Amino acid sequence: MNILMIGSGGREHALIKKLLQSPKVTKLYTAPGNGGISCDSICVHIPVMDKEKMVAFAKENNIDLVIVAPDDPLADGMVDAFEEVGIRAFGPDKKAAIIEASKVFSKNMMKKYGIPTADYEVFSDPTKVMEYITAKNEFPVVIKADGLALGKGVIIAKDINEAKNAVKSIMEDKKFGKSGNNVVVEEFLTGPEVSVLSFTDGKTVKPMVSSKDHKRAYDNDEGLNTGGMGTISPNPYYTPELAEECMETIFKPTVKAMAQEGRPFKGCLYFGLMMTPKGPKVIEYNARFGDPEAQVVLPRLKTDLIDIINAVIDEKLDEIEIEWSDNASACVIMASGGYPESYKRGMEITGLNAKGNLDGVTVYHSGTLIKDGKFYTNGGRVLGVTAVAPTLDEALQKAYEGVGKIHFDGVHYRKDIGKTK
Ligand code: AMP
Ligand code: GLY
Repeated sequence: MNILMIGSGGREHALIKKLLQSPKVTKLYTAPGNGGISCDSICVHIPVMDKEKMVAFAKENNIDLVIVAPDDPLADGMVDAFEEVGIRAFGPDKKAAIIEASKVFSKNMMKKYGIPTADYEVFSDPTKVMEYITAKNEFPVVIKADGLALGKGVIIAKDINEAKNAVKSIMEDKKFGKSGNNVVVEEFLTGPEVSVLSFTDGKTVKPMVSSKDHKRAYDNDEGLNTGGMGTISPNPYYTPELAEECMETIFKPTVKAMAQEGRPFKGCLYFGLMMTPKGPKVIEYNARFGDPEAQVVLPRLKTDLIDIINAVIDEKLDEIEIEWSDNASACVIMASGGYPESYKRGMEITGLNAKGNLDGVTVYHSGTLIKDGKFYTNGGRVLGVTAVAPTLDEALQKAYEGVGKIHFDGVHYRKDIGKTK
């Protein structure tokens, strides 16, 4: 099979390395990819949102399967564009991708179908939001931009001033553009967070092994929210009992609700969960693999990913058995100094071999470029150093040993991945 991967981050690199284990893959292209990805697949310079060019490329190169990995092109109908010309594509169509693209949609859906989530109100008028928050007078309060915001559209305000600033930046200064036309104001929940990615064909849902992200920029969960600074799998807080409960109260009801709404979801559906004292609740849905969740979950997948993808597209997920290794995995993100705010690019990366990898670990590239055989930083999150081992402690130790051998100016990474709640 000739495959086209759409995207350019560590998640895409993890998908690519998994696909390369399949005997069914003949040629693997990535658009646009990055420096590290170019060592494992053929990178083509098509912008991730350019549907016309993507479809034209797929036709010219006899692509049998397209995998759309990032949220923006999914929300914009990239999968629909391929379906219209009869090319098989993995990922939700535009109608289903709304589960991530609009928090107003997903919150209203959860309310309608009784899926447990934080209590909330929706607002389109900044004055009304502040009236509501002032009258309620309960802090912290959670303020979320309705639309996509690179994982940064959620503000947890500790007092009325922080709430005012949040509402101003989202709704008036339009920090996230149109994504901030509406906001969701939510009750603040507590408890360990769990990420569960799942495969679903719109009818059947098969959860993958669990994982835990570390979203804050600095150790001890301090600093701003980022796209994710490191992950472990499995998530130690996700017991078999909780998994059973989530299946019955969240996973199956969500897939059923989307189908009933006329938006059957086919692809990878990501459940961002919190294990609250009142039971598991949904914090957010994503319409795609998480980044860096994919980097710890996919290395544990034993079944051929192509077989699973075909089963999803053909709506035969109930017919396939998906196997996982009992090992644990850990991924430490090496980021540019300053991320998630402004940072420099173009720092030379040392310590990697010619293929951008390192013995003993797997280095997934998030934001790199390659020039004359040397790798340079080219993004906020740069590398995801991942190790798999019989226990989590061993996996963490191996991953950090790998991190210690790689260097670039300004490098920043968390030292406590796998250690915090
Ligand atoms: P989201 O982008 O919706 O996943 O939110 C980003 C992060 O904000 C989550 O991973 C949580 O740590 C935190 N968060 C979001 N909603 C809530 C909530 N209702 N209560 C407490 N923390 C939250
Ligand atoms: N790591 C969180 C996300 O991919 O949204």
